[in-house]
Amino acid sequence: MSLDDLVKGVQTIAVVCNQWGDTGKGKFSDYFASQWADVTARGTGGNNAGHTVVVNGRRKVFHLIPAGIASDSAGKITVLGNGMVIDLGVLGQELDELDAEKNSYNNLMISKDAGVIMPYHVAADKEDKSQKDGGIGTTGRGIGPCYTDKVARRGITIEDLFDKDRLSKKIERAKKAYPKQDINTDDVIDILIPLAERIRPFVRDTVSEMHRFLREGKKILLEGAQGLLLSVEHGIHPYVTSSDCSLNGTASGVGLSAKMIDLPLGIIKFPLMTRVGAGPFPTEIGGADSESYCSKEEHTLIYELITYGIPHQKIGNEIIYDKNDPRILEMINSSSEFIQGVGLRLAAREYGATTGRPRRIGWVDAVAARYAVGINGPLLVLTKPDSLSDAKEFKIAYGYEKEGKTSKTFSKSEKFLRGVTPIYKTYDGYGDISQIKEYDKLPLNLKQAIGDFESFTGGRVAVVSVGSDREETIIR
Ligand code: IMO
Ligand code: MG
Repeated sequence: MSLDDLVKGVQTIAVVCNQWGDTGKGKFSDYFASQWADVTARGTGGNNAGHTVVVNGRRKVFHLIPAGIASDSAGKITVLGNGMVIDLGVLGQELDELDAEKNSYNNLMISKDAGVIMPYHVAADKEDKSQKDGGIGTTGRGIGPCYTDKVARRGITIEDLFDKDRLSKKIERAKKAYPKQDINTDDVIDILIPLAERIRPFVRDTVSEMHRFLREGKKILLEGAQGLLLSVEHGIHPYVTSSDCSLNGTASGVGLSAKMIDLPLGIIKFPLMTRVGAGPFPTEIGGADSESYCSKEEHTLIYELITYGIPHQKIGNEIIYDKNDPRILEMINSSSEFIQGVGLRLAAREYGATTGRPRRIGWVDAVAARYAVGINGPLLVLTKPDSLSDAKEFKIAYGYEKEGKTSKTFSKSEKFLRGVTPIYKTYDGYGDISQIKEYDKLPLNLKQAIGDFESFTGGRVAVVSVGSDREETIIR
């Protein structure tokens, strides 16, 4: 079966992450956006997200604009929805990049109701960026403070930018909420107005536009951001982002309901999962040592390549190395869990697209996945099983043990998750699977693991991705 078969008779698709983000939503958004959708819309978060978009054959990391923008000249529409928070400076930079590539963005629509990330939001967020003093390790982009203002009914929306009096009154009000920031209303307005003028032609009531697109039978793709376990509603407090990045939140963030989504796809990295930032991660390889090591921003890819003596080259901003280097394989099979974790991070190249931080690596947690299936629905896409090739074995957690009791139920409580020991099932490893095109041809032990995972979680694996290229996709 091909991806085209999967979308037969479908008008609306959502691609959301069922873990802690960075699961490869970008690959599928890009595919559906360019090959299938008439409209690509984002409903949550802001430039805390990092996704790779291919523009004129070149890979670019975008943070705000959804994947569909690369097909704008073909008349495709891209929507930044009401549930998003937008840093106008960053949006301006992304538009500059599109200009530089001569990629038109005439069909970009920006919700009049989206929140505006203000300079004082970014400044205030710096306090939560660092993990040193127990901070949660946010991306430092002002996301939390901006959503806080929205909920506290003092947020500034895109529409407010075009009413100077109203804007000025709202900034005055913000002064009380941000006593530590030295806010000068006129200065803030001077920064914002030129940026606002630039986006003025794209500002719309995107909710009614979305409803019109639905009525007209346009094919709509919702591009999720972050992941379910980071959702402010369903994630593990306080180690969450400040939007509801579940399927529900993603739909509501563009003015739709989850019920209207014909094909909701939940992405799961398998059999390794990752997270960036602080917070409990029961299946983390290397446990607390890894958590503390990964909290330090200096432990970048280049640092690890040098420290572990892996040959590499730097060409421009690109760092090139062989993910199958025998030294990396040796690390993966090391008896030290910490080293194993570093080796797996190198093999899977797991470094943040937004911040460059090393991602924490663990085995897939079927207990958390079962929780995610309950919220985001059963249809699953597994990504990156190819990054584990030639490891001796891999594991999946099918339960937690705590004080002699076992549990198969996830709880978003930090206290609970910090105290559990995962109950693993170990499977033999497998070799290179990147050339496999049919589900039946996958190695037996991997299929066995997928089958166990499905029966435990209640999910149904519809797609297995075996590489970053579009062709490296198996539809079941
Ligand atoms: P994509 O869309 C992974 C994490 C941060 C931090 C927490 C709160 O690329 O998958 P925030 O700046 O949002 O207030 O930070 O959420 N986080 C992400 N982790 N992928 C993302 O986005 C993330 N966006 C936020 O690391 O732990
Ligand atoms: Mg990302």
